[in-house]
Amino acid sequence: MSRINLAVLLVLGLLLVTAKQSMQMSLRNPTAEIESSNCKLEMLRVGLVLASDSNEKALQDSGLFTDESHVDIAGRRFHVGTLKYTPIVYVKTGTHSVNVATGVQTLLLKFNISEIVFFGNAGSLDKNVVDQGDVLVPEAVAFTGVWEWEEFRAQNKGQLAFGHYNYPVNGENSLGTVAFENITLYSSSEEPKEVFWLPIYSQSATEELFKDLESKECHSGKCLPRPGNIVPGWKASTSDFYVRNQAYGDFLLEKFNATTADSASAAVALTALSNKKPFVVVQGVSNVVGDENGSDPEHASQNAFYVAAAIINLLPSQRHASE
Ligand SMILES: *[C@@H]1O[C@H](CO)[C@@H](O)[C@H](O)[C@H]1NC(C)=O
Ligand SMILES: *[C@@H]1O[C@H](CO)[C@@H](O)[C@H](O)[C@H]1NC(C)=O
Ligand SMILES: *[C@@H]1O[C@H](CO)[C@@H](O)[C@H](O)[C@H]1NC(C)=O
Ligand SMILES: *[C@@H]1O[C@H](CO)[C@@H](O)[C@H](O)[C@H]1NC(C)=O
Repeated sequence: MSRINLAVLLVLGLLLVTAKQSMQMSLRNPTAEIESSNCKLEMLRVGLVLASDSNEKALQDSGLFTDESHVDIAGRRFHVGTLKYTPIVYVKTGTHSVNVATGVQTLLLKFNISEIVFFGNAGSLDKNVVDQGDVLVPEAVAFTGVWEWEEFRAQNKGQLAFGHYNYPVNGENSLGTVAFENITLYSSSEEPKEVFWLPIYSQSATEELFKDLESKECHSGKCLPRPGNIVPGWKASTSDFYVRNQAYGDFLLEKFNATTADSASAAVALTALSNKKPFVVVQGVSNVVGDENGSDPEHASQNAFYVAAAIINLLPSQRHASE
């Protein structure tokens, strides 16, 4: 059940006070006064963002989403409806950072969104933290695909030296080295700044979430599979190439302490931060980078959706009043 939120009570309380004053001022037509007072309750929806077909299939197969209407903007369909009891808008952005960022920015411009919940698939870089079937809810994410190529034999060598990966023996390599660059974070209230880690901040209470996830999510007699472990914290990495190479995965873990690699999360983070919107990232681990066991995107999507749905269920439903 969505719980009664203090903010909602406050807004409702204010409205009642306004209504009472209006009635005292004008007993003839109080309703007209409220309507002309320029203050209406606006419903805020949770913006549910996903990138791929397998993510969308997990949402649709769950039976939890009730479609009310949709709007097509810039080639993407924005589905308006409820997820269990929570009003949401969901959009499938398409994969890779440009598509993801475009989808998230459009969502924020066209709808009144309280918080963004993104779910998708990722590869684990550290099996000891998350394995196939687990779900990571990271606390920060970086774009690790923003490279500055340093000249061969340059003095200021980049962190990634290709020569260290020569086979069968390490040595010089004419690809030289790569330095990992910051990215510019633009926002309405501050000067643009260079950042590497993008902090993830949500309005949901994590302890409550993990309590809630103890129970199985069932709907119409069908239960969603329980993910292996749900792991909060840790850092994630995003690039436009999906990392499958073990040596590069190990490098990301050793250099940046990144636990997963995907190709969407940092784009959601950067866009949400630019718009000062709270957001949460949920990653279903579909494979372990370098592991020959292959990947299971469908199961990972279901797991990630399951956790995203539980988070949405815990978010306070919100309204805001216009001045
Ligand atoms: C969002 O809220 C604003 C201000 O309250 C309102 O004018 C606008 O119509 C709302 N937009 C949508 C899509 O509901
Ligand atoms: C990147 O930004 C961080 C602050 O987020 C700063 O400490 C670091 O020096 C910057 N690195 C580069 C290469 O500009
Ligand atoms: C990596 O991140 C985890 C979780 O934030 C932290 O506990 C650990 O100390 C970090 N390891 C290194 C080597 O920084
Ligand atoms: C492949 O998966 C099996 C079963 O989950 C596991 O026991 C095995 O360790 C995995 N192989 C590797 C190389 O991780």
